[in-house]
Amino acid sequence: MVLNDTEFIREIEGWGAQYLAGQPLRERTSLGVGGAADLIVLRRLEALEPVVEGLARRGIPWGLLGGGTNVLAADEPFRRVFLRLAPGPRDLVFEGRRVHVAAAASLGRTVMECATRNLGGMEGLVGVPGSVGGALRMNAGAYGTQIGPLVRSVTVFRGATGRREELAADAIGFTYRHSSFAPDDILVRVTLELIERPFREILDEVKGYNEKRRRSQPVKEKSAGCIFKNPPGLSTGKLIDELGMKGERVGGAVISERHANFIVNRGGATAADIFRLMERIRERIRKAHGIELEEEVIVWKN
Ligand code: EPU
Repeated sequence: MVLNDTEFIREIEGWGAQYLAGQPLRERTSLGVGGAADLIVLRRLEALEPVVEGLARRGIPWGLLGGGTNVLAADEPFRRVFLRLAPGPRDLVFEGRRVHVAAAASLGRTVMECATRNLGGMEGLVGVPGSVGGALRMNAGAYGTQIGPLVRSVTVFRGATGRREELAADAIGFTYRHSSFAPDDILVRVTLELIERPFREILDEVKGYNEKRRRSQPVKEKSAGCIFKNPPGLSTGKLIDELGMKGERVGGAVISERHANFIVNRGGATAADIFRLMERIRERIRKAHGIELEEEVIVWKN
């Protein structure tokens, strides 16, 4: 338990947030690994400022836990507190071709909600698990679509100043699986601009991608998606596959037989198992191709 200041905990609850001590991150991440951490769930977004200010005043480090779908959290208990934005009932507000979306909203659900209003352009992203905020931070992409180009503006809470700012799209850099946001920026809200397209057409395209994904990725297993980025012009999955590494295992962590750039948790895997398997992949790729693989998942260590 990082917070042992009962008065502060009471204050936090008064601001519309909830303090949860010692939550195993393995239960809150899609990969199913990660040690215990204290969480502060923000039911009201207005709680963000006083909570962060209170933590800063006490010198308590904090991080943000979003959907937990692209994260590899270490096994040791965390010294920092994780903030979590709770999804709300009015997370999507439509205005013509634009939609204002809360960062905590699910990406897949957002794509489909927009589709029912005949708004498309995000079809490729439907099977990407996680929140809209997480997708923005990583500039998530699949099947030729990245979220970055759809962004018109983002409301961001700057951890560095404790203030919110509204950034226009041209003030944000989006590149392959990367955005220019600072590590202590919390994305609060985004405005996306979509294209008008009949629901039926969007649905057909989405169904096609879902089928493709089910065939080529282990969608039913515990994973964090692709574990390494693709080097320019290459596919890491193909490179690992060509080295015959599918099915290799360390403890409960296995290189997926369906897609070699996925490490799946087949039961009881620890972060240490996954780190060892990643290191083995890195070494083999280095030896065979002289390429230094870069992580695609976000690694959290103390
Ligand atoms: N391939 C193999 N063996 C494998 C995996 C792939 O031979 O084990 C071959 C495929 O047959 C294909 C080529 O490699 O010819 C590319 O594979 P795929 O279409 O699956 O795409 P990818 O480059 O491996 C990228 C993204 C995925 C995204 C897909 C679909 C990265 C690191 N990966 O994978 O994103 O879903 O394209 O657009 O950019 C993620 O970000 O977590 C992720 C899974």
